[in-house]
Amino acid sequence: MKKTISERIKGLHGTLSIPGDKSVSHRALLFGAIAQGATEIKGLLESEDVLNTAKALQKLGVKIEKQTNGLWTVTGTDTFKEPASILDMGNSGTGVRLLMGLLSAYPIRAELTGDASLCSRPMKRITEPLSKTGAVFKSTDGKLPIMIIGSEKNEPFEYTLPVASAQVKSAVLLSGLRKKTPTVVYEPVACRDHTERMLKAFGADISVEKDSQGVNIITLKGGKRLSACSVVVPADISSAAFPIVAALITPDSEIVLPDIGINPLRTGILDVLLEMGADITFENKREIAEEPVADLHVRSSSLKGVDVPAEKAPSMIDEYPILAVAAAFAEGETRLNGLAELKVKESNRLQAIVEGLTRNGVNASAPPDDSIRITGTGNNVHGGGLIEAKLDHRIAMSFMVMGTASKKPVTIDDVSSVATSFPEFISLMNKAGADIRFE
Ligand code: S3P
Repeated sequence: MKKTISERIKGLHGTLSIPGDKSVSHRALLFGAIAQGATEIKGLLESEDVLNTAKALQKLGVKIEKQTNGLWTVTGTDTFKEPASILDMGNSGTGVRLLMGLLSAYPIRAELTGDASLCSRPMKRITEPLSKTGAVFKSTDGKLPIMIIGSEKNEPFEYTLPVASAQVKSAVLLSGLRKKTPTVVYEPVACRDHTERMLKAFGADISVEKDSQGVNIITLKGGKRLSACSVVVPADISSAAFPIVAALITPDSEIVLPDIGINPLRTGILDVLLEMGADITFENKREIAEEPVADLHVRSSSLKGVDVPAEKAPSMIDEYPILAVAAAFAEGETRLNGLAELKVKESNRLQAIVEGLTRNGVNASAPPDDSIRITGTGNNVHGGGLIEAKLDHRIAMSFMVMGTASKKPVTIDDVSSVATSFPEFISLMNKAGADIRFE
């Protein structure tokens, strides 16, 4: 793989069409796969992660097709066939964890694996609750590759999430879809609720209540098959965050990003950027297929450092790498707190952020309390560093964004991982004025 260089630019301009939301796209395929009838998906993210989920479902006997008009159709089944070969989920934690939830309720054996990044990520957070529902998991070290043997056992199941993870929450809920008994998830800290919203659209009997301690009680009544529906996928706020920060830190920029999903459990990054002084306006707010969306208008801004409390983490868990870049260009210190989960993402992001900033002349540290401290340069980032992306798309994109405004270009060793979530990132950015090229 050739190295990629991102050079300082004059500014970003135009309307950028951001691809579909990754979380929503995975769910649309997975729920469509087991629903009665044909589900139609508009705006599916056609990235490696999502296409790997589609391929795995096809190996399980699900009919998934792209129509000539760009819509995807998933014809649901209630009897997965045992896959003839291993299901390779690539880089995708969401794909593999949600699929494990679904498969746990079917009486078949399937082996799942992924790339080096995914094979190093924790899976016990999924296999531990799902084992209690009767499914059996075989793995040498609790990580991928994992053989799953599902179970049709029907018993009510209650689970309290030990970590704020929508992937764990969703896996447990999916394990309950085929049962005739209820599945209840207690969620002490709210995290993205695309599963709950979309299951409702697919006709599931699911309700969410808050107890007196503020814990969400998510109850899925069993015994009802999902019914196919039409899904419209909003543009991904997590992908939008990269051009947003690029526009904020480069001079004279003005961009519009249409149809961005602004689910309140995903928009922590916008709250924090606004607090830092970002000029971002929301236009044309509306609701499309259970999810709120808006067109975002972003202009160059002078940013100031900010203290981001740990409570904010679930609503912006994927955005810390790009927020760290914004903080590097801000005036004053930024403290990002409660980042333990960043260590088990596509790479150890806590380490990758500090290493990447330091290599570009930014003063950053990670004290032992799972926080990151960044001394802002007031738009004076030196740059010139070489970044190891470590199969992590968001690390690669964040530092390409840093290069758009640093004094010296930023080089990334391997940007191939960007295809997992945002294949058109480089061409879209260059069309808007960026100068990102292969060495
Ligand atoms: C996701 C949930 C988050 C996020 C990931 C997508 C999802 O992971 O980091 O990119 O679609 O449910 P966790 O649930 O493990 O925090």
